[in-house]
Amino acid sequence: MAKIIGGITSSHIPAVGNAITQGLTQEPYWKRFFDGYQPAVKWLEEAKPDVIIVVYNDHGLNFFLDKIPTFAIGCADKYINADEGWGLNAVGDFEGDQAFSWHLAESLVEQEFDICTCQEMKVDHGFVNPMRVLLEKEKDWGVKVVPFAVNTVQHPVPSGKRCLKIGEALGKAIESYPEDLRVVIFGTGGMSHQLQGERAGLINVDFDIETMESVISEPEKFASLSNAEIIEQAGTEGIETIMWLVMRGALQPDAKLIHKHYHAPISNTGAGVLVLENQ
Ligand code: DHB
Ligand code: FE
Repeated sequence: MAKIIGGITSSHIPAVGNAITQGLTQEPYWKRFFDGYQPAVKWLEEAKPDVIIVVYNDHGLNFFLDKIPTFAIGCADKYINADEGWGLNAVGDFEGDQAFSWHLAESLVEQEFDICTCQEMKVDHGFVNPMRVLLEKEKDWGVKVVPFAVNTVQHPVPSGKRCLKIGEALGKAIESYPEDLRVVIFGTGGMSHQLQGERAGLINVDFDIETMESVISEPEKFASLSNAEIIEQAGTEGIETIMWLVMRGALQPDAKLIHKHYHAPISNTGAGVLVLENQ
């Protein structure tokens, strides 16, 4: 049967992609941020996943404001990266696992989560940058992927509670797959940031730290906040952090904390890395 090895959280800041492309990761501005990933990089290498499920939000590349599913899952054999406007170089294609994706979709619908299935899906920085930082590759990823998109960009955005619940259903879906797959889940986005409007530049370190602690040991606490409460504390784009709850919901409640790192600011964002391992 498929087995969930663990999960990793990561922001997905576009500038991180440019820092990698330009070879700046050891420059003083970037070093602490990238150093904070090293234990996660090492853990992932040792975890040897067959498939990584990447929970992320599309930023206007594959979906646009005219049509935006609340939850969508990739069911393709290949996913192509493109830049939706940040000037990022495209990285190599990602190999999908169609049979596994369709199993997840079927199981989620059976569990009353009516998810959008995508047989073609372009992936943007929200998906690609965590892959680049955590696998330290730009192509030939050596692992299959399942993109899992959550609408965090246009009202109405699902609640944290809903994300935690769909995560629990995703966990059951994964563990009911008969093949012996090793699965790791990335929860991407966040943490506090606001890119526009009067509060542009907002970062809330205290709230981010509290959120990380809640995601580790008491996800219901973060999940009980309304989206308005999260946005008030963490900024409009800070709402992306609800995607961590999809990953968290799929893991065991007593999943073990392997690594925790927080760095702010980087680009416009407070960036948190967590590695949680199932027992
Ligand atoms: C930044 C962060 C994001 O999550 C994003 O989608 C775009 C920009 C930033 O910190 O600059
Ligand atoms: Fe984002």
